[in-house]
Amino acid sequence: MKIALVGYGKMGHMIAECARSCGHEIAVTVDVVADDASAKVPAGDYEAVARAVKSSGAEGIIEFSHPSAVMGNIKALLPLGIPVVVGTTGWNDRHQEVSDFAASCGGTIMTSSNFSIGVNMLYKIIDEAVKIMEPFSEYDISTWEMHHNQKADSPSGTALEIAKHILANTGRKTEIVTEEFHEKPKPEQLHVSSTRCGAVPGTHTVFFDSAADTIEITHRARSRAGFAMGAVHALERLCNGVKNGNLVKGRLYGMSDLF
Ligand SMILES: NC(=O)c1ccc[n+]([C@@H]2O[C@H](COP(=O)([O-])OP(=O)(O)OC[C@H]3O[C@@H](n4cnc5c(N)ncnc54)[C@H](O)[C@@H]3O)[C@@H](O)[C@H]2O)c1
Repeated sequence: MKIALVGYGKMGHMIAECARSCGHEIAVTVDVVADDASAKVPAGDYEAVARAVKSSGAEGIIEFSHPSAVMGNIKALLPLGIPVVVGTTGWNDRHQEVSDFAASCGGTIMTSSNFSIGVNMLYKIIDEAVKIMEPFSEYDISTWEMHHNQKADSPSGTALEIAKHILANTGRKTEIVTEEFHEKPKPEQLHVSSTRCGAVPGTHTVFFDSAADTIEITHRARSRAGFAMGAVHALERLCNGVKNGNLVKGRLYGMSDLF
């Protein structure tokens, strides 16, 4: 498959490597600053991004750019009718808007705040763990994440997704709190905390804590390769699904729809 990469930073480079190792061709790499990108576009010029992708003849697009650019890229790229996988985080609160936009222009898009297979397994483990904990009111629950000091958003999209899985499986937590506390947390508040340090590719922990003990469930990414390979597989499945009619055009899909 001919793949266009929008955003040619740390993830873009890793995805190019993984895609080539799977036998795909990189049709174009689009970026606003990277000197080694094959198409350099002015920041904020999303039509230029779309033109570069269209003229490359790409059959699929993978977008890993910046939270400030992702909505502009999505709105310029979806009308091209080429399936798009978006890995950029920081736009969780705009999924409905993007879903409506996909329906209106007939574009097909798939997103996940974390493409690693291990994290998608973690979500299922958390679902079960929270259900097991539910009758034992002496256990409190919280979640924490740590990433490298270049990450632009916090908490991570993955931490927010973990929080949603916790809320969906307990009646005891109803509110996600990502800010600092100025008073004692209320029992129904779920604390989602973040640390930024060094080069950590991504660590997520859920704590179940009682007076007697702590249970910690941790996913620790070793490198970005797991995210990159997951994004390439997601694009393969999205394109095949559209071709063979298993997936519908004009929809926003998530990882759970594909795997
Ligand atoms: N979903 C996942 O599995 C996953 C995994 C890792 C990172 N991420 C997210 O992916 C995003 C990128 O991460 P990264 O580590 O590659 O960051 P990075 O800063 O190394 O690279 C981002 C690149 O995007 C470029 N860019 C900015 N605006 C652009 C635009 N309009 N068009 C094209 N390129 C543009 C920047 O110049 C930069 O080169 C972040 O939001 C990060 O949180 C997601």
